[in-house]
Amino acid sequence: MQEQASKPEMSDERLNHKTCNCQNAKMPLGNGQNEIHQLISLLPTILIGLSRDSKIVLWNSEAERVIGKKQSEVMGFPIQQCSIDWDWDKIDGGISKSRTASQPTRVDNIRFQRPDGKERYLGMTINYLDGEDDCILGSTIIGADITDRRKLETQLQQSQKMEAIGQLAAGIAHEINTPTQFVGDNTRFFQDAFEDLRKIIREYENLIGKAKSDSLTGDLIVGAEKRIQDMDLEYLEQEIPVALQHTLKGVDRITKIVQAMKIFSHPGMITKEPTDINQEIEKTITISRNEWKYVAQMETDFDSNLPAVPCFRAELNQVILNLIVNAAHAIAEANENASSEQGIIRIRTYHKDNWAKIRISDTGAGIPQEIRHKIFDLFFTTKGPGKGSGQGLAISHSVIVEKHKGTLDLESQEGKGTTFIIGLPLGAEPDENE
Ligand SMILES: Nc1ncnc2c1ncn2[C@@H]1O[C@H](COP(=O)(O)OP(=O)(O)OP(=O)(O)O)[C@@H](O)[C@H]1O
Ligand SMILES: [Mg+2]
Repeated sequence: MQEQASKPEMSDERLNHKTCNCQNAKMPLGNGQNEIHQLISLLPTILIGLSRDSKIVLWNSEAERVIGKKQSEVMGFPIQQCSIDWDWDKIDGGISKSRTASQPTRVDNIRFQRPDGKERYLGMTINYLDGEDDCILGSTIIGADITDRRKLETQLQQSQKMEAIGQLAAGIAHEINTPTQFVGDNTRFFQDAFEDLRKIIREYENLIGKAKSDSLTGDLIVGAEKRIQDMDLEYLEQEIPVALQHTLKGVDRITKIVQAMKIFSHPGMITKEPTDINQEIEKTITISRNEWKYVAQMETDFDSNLPAVPCFRAELNQVILNLIVNAAHAIAEANENASSEQGIIRIRTYHKDNWAKIRISDTGAGIPQEIRHKIFDLFFTTKGPGKGSGQGLAISHSVIVEKHKGTLDLESQEGKGTTFIIGLPLGAEPDENE
């Protein structure tokens, strides 16, 4: 909580110059400005005015309603000292940025706590007013409570993820079924082999017993030898280690798929974590295998020196999955009219300056120039019902550009293929979501 300062006197001459006292907000008053001021106070948008030395000179009704502070409690105070429990650093950063850049600055996800203890989020645009000398306003802050919008966005993203998992489910079941089958076959082989080995051991035990009691005859030895040969000890010696190796591989494969699925269905963390993105991409390739393996070869070229990337892991995986599935669909579409030759999906990671980059390329149909401006729109799709709902790229854009402050670009050539390029900042960029 910021400390409440004693209410300063508004002694600045500019404040007394041509001002009104409409709802205590001292504003320049001219013809019709009284009405304008009344209108402002009724706006369904938070509007806060700051003097050049950051004192609050305008605080409309919506600011009172949303933030839960009466105009009389804040007017005339420096904004940083008016006892509001909010992410002051973000707002301060926004004010400074708008001043130095002389342009409107958007600050999102400002956490604040209302006096009733409820935690909410604000989205604000801060404007620096480079006005006349006698203008008392230094900046305006226009904003809204975005808590409900954030909730809806998160729900949409989570439901798209669950939908994607639903679509992958049949493929994943198939991917798990294949190793499960040979693990089962091998286990039945071990059961039979163990029975044979047990019989062989019994034969040897019998021979040792006979030898000890001096009753070992040539016939007994020949008989035992024959039975041991029938059980083919050499074959068992060769095959058991191989079958064991395959079984362990199968179990590893199933574990990997299940782990990747667990990561996918996880609702995600609220803060970024340092992430080995090569490993994450590998997991996403694993669970989406059934989506691409019939139409494409997967090639990877991972930068082994890639530093850990601060990111929201579950969301990043969701983006990679969307891009891989899109790539597979584009290759399938291209192959519909041409040969049934497999296409290629190539995923490359590298780092450049302070950015981690991921390139996902396909040899698919390409994106026609005339629809390129629409592909990131929510619900824009060229796919039939059941195949696409037009959410993948809209959500990918929001995850990469808004949540990670990254970039999502594309290069595409009709008939040749498409590359999506994700850029993620490596450095300690101020994180809007934390
Ligand atoms: N790699 C690609 N190659 C060619 N076209 C693409 C590619 N990626 C996306 N598109 C085009 O962009 C459109 C929008 O993609 P987006 O991922 O948002 O939705 P979708 O794949 O149609 O449905 P969803 O992702 O919700 O299952 C696609 O319908 C397709 O026309
Ligand atoms: Mg898609």
